[in-house]
Amino acid sequence: MIRPRGISTHSIIMKRIFIVANWKSHKNKQEATDWLKTFLDFKKSEDKEVIVCPSFTILPYLQQWIGSHRLPLSVGAQDVSPFAEGAFTGEVNARQVKEFADYVIIGHSERRTYFSETDEMVTKKVEMARQANLTPIFCVQGGQTPVPPGVEMVAYEPVSAIGTGNPDSPENAEGVIRAIKEKTGASYVLYGGSVTPENINSFTSLPSIDGVLVGGGSLDPKTFAGIIENA
Ligand code: PGA
Repeated sequence: MIRPRGISTHSIIMKRIFIVANWKSHKNKQEATDWLKTFLDFKKSEDKEVIVCPSFTILPYLQQWIGSHRLPLSVGAQDVSPFAEGAFTGEVNARQVKEFADYVIIGHSERRTYFSETDEMVTKKVEMARQANLTPIFCVQGGQTPVPPGVEMVAYEPVSAIGTGNPDSPENAEGVIRAIKEKTGASYVLYGGSVTPENINSFTSLPSIDGVLVGGGSLDPKTFAGIIENA
């Protein structure tokens, strides 16, 4: 869960950086295990929170593996039902997700594009997540995307930057993110879109950017470890 920003031993206010792996529709159990094994020596850092978001099918497995090996990783889901429990074939509701995860990505542009998710639907998902005590990582495609009330964590992901190798400029992302914070009151706003070990620091070193949402760069564990290290 979200914790307040810490204070370092040097009494400098440290920015807490969130690094979220969005595996999208990738990885089965074996592939996830191979990835996790790379992080067995990963040391907990007070100023970086790493959240891994796998498919629903391996959510319980990931939570269990991370717990039994005491890895300093949090778990998130990639989606949640806009409905409570009931006769909704194929849906996974927030109470079910909360058994295995603390976070949930809501409103990703791929869901809006390929699964026709509307602003109304993603608002219901946020309500369901919050009732179940899941922290939404609410995706916006720009400063104009409506953000439902009470959302604490937003991810700014311009569609042109997703999976293209063509990230937003850090200066533009900083400006959009500052404006999102002023408009919505969100405590944490992340940047997402073609983040790599080479470019991460140009984003996370800026004052308003609280972390990153990483798709392609999270699939290979060594690349993702480089992203964490350079953040
Ligand atoms: P990308 O995806 O890192 O592959 O650009 C980011 C995302 O869609 O969350």
